[in-house]
Amino acid sequence: MSLIPDDVIEQVREAADIVGIIGEHVELKRTGTDFRAPCPFHGGTHRNFAVIPKKGMYYCFVCHEGGDVFTFFMKRLGMDYPTAVREVARRVGIAIPERGPTGPDPREPLYGAVAAAADWFARQLRESPDAQVARDYLASRHLELAVVLPLGLGYAPRSKAFLDAMKGLGVRDEVLLEAGLLVKREDGTLLPRFRGRLLFPIHDLRARVVAFGGRILGEGEPKYLNSPDSPVFHKGKLLYNLHVAKHAMRKAERAILVEGYFDVLRLSLAEIEEVVAPLGTGLTPDQAQLLARHTPHVILLHDSDDAGLRATFRAGDELLRQGVRVSVATLPVGEDPDTLVQKRGAPGLEAILKDAVDPLERKIQILDRKAFFSSLPGRRRALDRLLPTIRAAKDPITRELYISRAAEAAGVRKDVLEREVVATGKTATSTVPYRPLPPSTVLPASAEKALVLLMLEGEPWKSRVAEAVDAEELAFPPYRAVFEAVADDAVLALDDTSARAYEQLKEEGLGGRDPNEMYELAVNWMEARRLERQLQQLDDQLPFESPERQASLIAEKRRVFDELRKRYPRYKIAARRRGAPGT
Ligand code: UTP
Ligand code: MN
Repeated sequence: MSLIPDDVIEQVREAADIVGIIGEHVELKRTGTDFRAPCPFHGGTHRNFAVIPKKGMYYCFVCHEGGDVFTFFMKRLGMDYPTAVREVARRVGIAIPERGPTGPDPREPLYGAVAAAADWFARQLRESPDAQVARDYLASRHLELAVVLPLGLGYAPRSKAFLDAMKGLGVRDEVLLEAGLLVKREDGTLLPRFRGRLLFPIHDLRARVVAFGGRILGEGEPKYLNSPDSPVFHKGKLLYNLHVAKHAMRKAERAILVEGYFDVLRLSLAEIEEVVAPLGTGLTPDQAQLLARHTPHVILLHDSDDAGLRATFRAGDELLRQGVRVSVATLPVGEDPDTLVQKRGAPGLEAILKDAVDPLERKIQILDRKAFFSSLPGRRRALDRLLPTIRAAKDPITRELYISRAAEAAGVRKDVLEREVVATGKTATSTVPYRPLPPSTVLPASAEKALVLLMLEGEPWKSRVAEAVDAEELAFPPYRAVFEAVADDAVLALDDTSARAYEQLKEEGLGGRDPNEMYELAVNWMEARRLERQLQQLDDQLPFESPERQASLIAEKRRVFDELRKRYPRYKIAARRRGAPGT
């Protein structure tokens, strides 16, 4: 009999996000209301494994494995029922009373296993002949073994020696599986997750090792392999190095947020210890809250490339929402904190931190440098990019200052901007309303895609497309966002979805298609859509007009219609039936 009351179990089951949880283990794709993936239980390759959120169930149509979110943890990770319930409860934030005041933490074996593994990995790095590659790698990055060993770094050899070593210590396979240190292959055999990687131990707030980040030695994919979430490790709720930084942060009255493990390592070695990094994701709200609990001020220290800027402003907004004071430090292009400290030492970094500016100010700097404030439409777009940061500011005084500053920069009245800030505007682009076309004129997004692909080719296409088409004409939001960003040279405004679209389109390229032809077809298509929309507006207007006015509108309509037919004879036939050009 379980010690957890049945109604609590029900409540946990109800609250669990089964798609999110199972999605951490297999790659789910939506099909209608369900989600599909290759079955992790029988190791299928086709998407026969279904997760049905409505029922809170999963099921494989081939091996008939099925169950709920608890069964999934039990079968996949070898947890017992109460542990599975507790694990899910933790994630959904439902408190379950411990098993009695003196009862042991059921996760004790997990902590033990991860600690034993960390020890073993560290010993390999220190003395195993197999680890010579790792020691050479560290040397190539100007890191001395004697200096990194005390930080707990380790090496996971290519062999399966880890399996025997753990067996020798009496650590059970199921526990290692649950900790994510082993993976089960399709044929049921076990394999160490980390092979041939340099390991950074990840500690929880109580300084227990709970996971690893494993860097490949040299080039290769993935560059970093991280432990999966487990009952002792939730990557979105922990920060790398927080167990050390939380003490240093108190003394320094600041935290430094960097992107990667090596950045943290290098700063720590330079005795700047109030440094943390997220764990392979952008800063989550939970992590921002965690930081807010330990420090009143966070300095963002990211690479100066587009990805770094995006991460900076997203992290900045998360932190502002927690009422934290934020500053943005700017590294020279091409440097990361690791290389900078190597070259200029701690004093060099301090100089850069000293010049850190407020995130809104930094946005204004960037927009100004790109001449956003020199035209009216530019100012409008600039404000759209400033608004999320203004809205994020939880502290009322910061928000007030932001409104004044943004109003001044964009040359709008403060009270007008104030109204815009409180107008629940969900996203910046909501200020340019997307007018859905009447159903008869709904077009495939691919002419839009063709235009964006052309823009990504750079000049002269970029200017030609930007002259022919306005961003507002693009109906598909990610394409419009990418279009705007490329036109404005401001990839920093991209949200996650659009950033993904950007990367994908960039990768796709023209694929050998003739840009001239693509341009012709796509621009014609857009022009045809403009005309068609004009016709629609004339139709809408007609019934409300006086007879004379109606006559002239009908004449106008005929003119537009003729033009549409004359100039774009292929519009309906070619474009409608076969899809837009460029696909
Ligand atoms: P970086 O690529 O900047 O890594 O990714 P880094 O730590 O600076 O390493 P070096 O100096 O290039 O060798 C930043 C962070 O993003 C996560 C890791 O946490 C990494 O430290 N990351 C990166 C992953 O989780 N997986 C990856 O494949 C790449
Ligand atoms: Mn880096």
